Amino acid sequence: MKVYRSATELQRACTMARGAGASVGFVPTMGALHAGHLSLVESLAPAPGSFRVVSIFVNPLQFGAGEDLEEYPRPIERDLELCREHGVDAVFTPGHGELYPEGFQTSVRVGGLTDILEGERRPGHFDGVTTVVAKLLSIVGPCRAVFGRKDYQQLAVVRKMVSDLNMQVCIAEHPIVRELDGLALSSRNRYLSPEERQRALCLSQGIRAARDLWAKGERETVLLEEAAMVPVRAGADRVDYVTVRDALTLERVPSFSDSEPVLLLAAFVGKTRLIDNSVLCAADYS
Ligand code: PAJ
Repeated sequence: MKVYRSATELQRACTMARGAGASVGFVPTMGALHAGHLSLVESLAPAPGSFRVVSIFVNPLQFGAGEDLEEYPRPIERDLELCREHGVDAVFTPGHGELYPEGFQTSVRVGGLTDILEGERRPGHFDGVTTVVAKLLSIVGPCRAVFGRKDYQQLAVVRKMVSDLNMQVCIAEHPIVRELDGLALSSRNRYLSPEERQRALCLSQGIRAARDLWAKGERETVLLEEAAMVPVRAGADRVDYVTVRDALTLERVPSFSDSEPVLLLAAFVGKTRLIDNSVLCAADYS
């Protein structure tokens, strides 16, 4: 495994790998790797001739004022060890100036989808995500890039960017990896005290409540939302949103007869903001 800090050098290595007939697979991350990230890496088949790239970069462009950019965990040595153990070929750990040198003036913005939900609560967040993901995709030039369903709206926004800009990459999605008790793995879970960690289960409890109601035949958006809201309100310190949307468009519809519903939740437990989601008609809740 080789660690690259230079975009040009990584770009060269990926070009050579492609030239030698390898299929380049890519997982972008902000590090503090956990089993969720690693399952994305594992989904890049370790076939002979594949070249597996992971980036680790805490992207300041996607953090708003008052968010956790400074505190965001950066256990780089451990992350590199985990990448090594998982058969990664190249890790990209650029410094800030490598991706955003002085005079950097470009921003990639997807309209519409980014104005709602996370985009509404975190203005500019998705512009930061799409700008860095566009850069990373053009440095690595992967055949396949994998994103987690944990960040459901991010996945939709990235897909839209790739489609609108005719980017030559296949975006693959991976189910949410959870702790045994239901908590979705997140680098931010380490901010939780033991007592908060317990209360954080309210999000997956909300998902279970809505899924149970869906399984019993309920199709009314408001009633599904109310079922999810009960445990979330009981456990969280502040609820940002608990909403059921069309799984493809993220638009609000009154009920679901032939379209698929996704329940999206965002709430604070202590000072930690957690998000989770579930496609209610899917067989498992990831
Ligand atoms: P990060 O939060 O580090 O997540 C990297 C990838 O891992 C994302 O695609 C995310 O959805 C996925 N992931 C995180 N937790 C997961 C879980 N429990 N199960 C499955 N997948 C999970 O998302 C970002 O970084 C950044 O926005 C990034 C795309 C790297 C751009 O900076």
